[in-house]
Amino acid sequence: MDFELTSLRLDEAAARKTPALVVLVADGFQPEGDALSALVRRATGSGDFKTEAGGLLATYGAEGVAAERVVLAGVGDGSPARVRKAVAAAIGALRGGPAQAVTLCFAQVPDGAAVYAATLAVADACYVYTATKGKDGKKDAPKLARATLGVPDADAVRGDFQQALGTARGVELAREWANRPANHATPTMLAEAAQALARLPRIGCEVLGPKEVAKLGMGAFQAVAQGSAQELRFIVLRYAGAAKGEAPVVLVGKGITFDTGGISIKPAPEMDEMKFDMGGAASVLGVFRALAELKPAINVVGLIPACENMPDGRALKPGDVVTSLSGQTIEVLNTDAEGRLVLCDALTYAERLKPRTVIDIATLTGACVVALGGVRSGLFAPGDALAEALLAAGERALDPCWRLPLDDEYAEGLKTHFADVANVAGRLAGSVTAAKFLQRFAGAFDWAHLDIAGTAWKSGAAKGATGRPVGLLVQYLLGQAGGRTAAARKGAAKPAGKGGAKRARA
Ligand code: BES
Ligand code: MN
Ligand code: ZN
Repeated sequence: MDFELTSLRLDEAAARKTPALVVLVADGFQPEGDALSALVRRATGSGDFKTEAGGLLATYGAEGVAAERVVLAGVGDGSPARVRKAVAAAIGALRGGPAQAVTLCFAQVPDGAAVYAATLAVADACYVYTATKGKDGKKDAPKLARATLGVPDADAVRGDFQQALGTARGVELAREWANRPANHATPTMLAEAAQALARLPRIGCEVLGPKEVAKLGMGAFQAVAQGSAQELRFIVLRYAGAAKGEAPVVLVGKGITFDTGGISIKPAPEMDEMKFDMGGAASVLGVFRALAELKPAINVVGLIPACENMPDGRALKPGDVVTSLSGQTIEVLNTDAEGRLVLCDALTYAERLKPRTVIDIATLTGACVVALGGVRSGLFAPGDALAEALLAAGERALDPCWRLPLDDEYAEGLKTHFADVANVAGRLAGSVTAAKFLQRFAGAFDWAHLDIAGTAWKSGAAKGATGRPVGLLVQYLLGQAGGRTAAARKGAAKPAGKGGAKRARA
């Protein structure tokens, strides 16, 4: 999808020759003398269109309007969340049709956050998975290939637009890899995807295989991988946007390319969805794609422990005790609690990078799906400053999370007679006990854990990866860079953060 941002008043939008025009109309719209204003006035007057969020009217050959198709979409109070919904619906109405280009314009002055939301919503609505479709399936790809965003003053919102574009690239990559089935997204293939990213400027990649991982002593990670015919990979991605000596933010993504549960095998229904169990890893790949685009002045390292969790003659068994990279021994009471086993070794590895912050991202617990559903990711962080920064980034990026507790009492159930720690506690507060397990390996740095089990993908009719939490993480990292970009490009570096434009009139 090609995107463009341009200054466009409503009368100019009416005169614009384009196959499709989407007009976003907020409550309290004041019609002027142009043809689009007249159309909105007529459509609201007749009751065919409401400016309330969800209002949608598709018309053809409207009088005085140069565009062939016009879609009016109500955005209610004009908030970014409403804009996102309206754009998704409007693009949905056009997607199946012949239009190859669309112009979106705002009937009222939008703020940067609304432009960000609209841009990401277009990109999201136009993504179609085709990687493993046959010839006929590939034809499903949408014809829409160009989107122009028209706002009264393009320069006022250009920073937000650019951030949305970079983020959209990352979200798309994350969705694509998470969607691919496990036989098309093996640990080796994920490593190749990371190596392909390293062809972009400022990105480097190093991949460790079974021998190196054994030599390091990542006994917990190895134990999960030992039941699979697929070799494990430990992926290290680096983005160098700041001076070499500057401490990096480290992102750790759970990369279980398929989670059968292992010997503690999962029931058959919906087990296919465990191909999404590398959603954390996919989001790390996506963030690096976005970093290459947005070039913030910050150093970031991505760590991805990637393997399958399979039952096998060689597989890890309940009761086995393994020795993690930290030296702590772990009694594996349930082989289905494998995410924390691969993550704990990656967290210990992160120590040697002398990080300023470590954030792990994992489809870790079914309990988190029960607690928060698909709306908010679970956030765990002992430090308030990091927790607040991630909460704020999530709100801003429309990729929200919710903080859950880390009281030490929750760790009681992890005690065992046979090792330093067990990998599961009781049935209660499963997301919290998983986080408490991880916390034992994250004592040496400022740390947060995002449980994305409910947000990384959708089930049912709309089954597919969401690309979350790429938006949240990119927003957070841009904030950490303080709006500075990696190298002074021609002229002054443009701030990559949100612009200071005023909120749309209600
Ligand atoms: N990948 C799953 C978590 C998961 C389950 C995510 C369902 C999304 C939907 C994870 O590896 C897992 O199996 N966790 C277990 C932990 C339990 C054995 C303590 C779970 O949540 O059931
Ligand atoms: Mn599992
Ligand atoms: Zn898992």
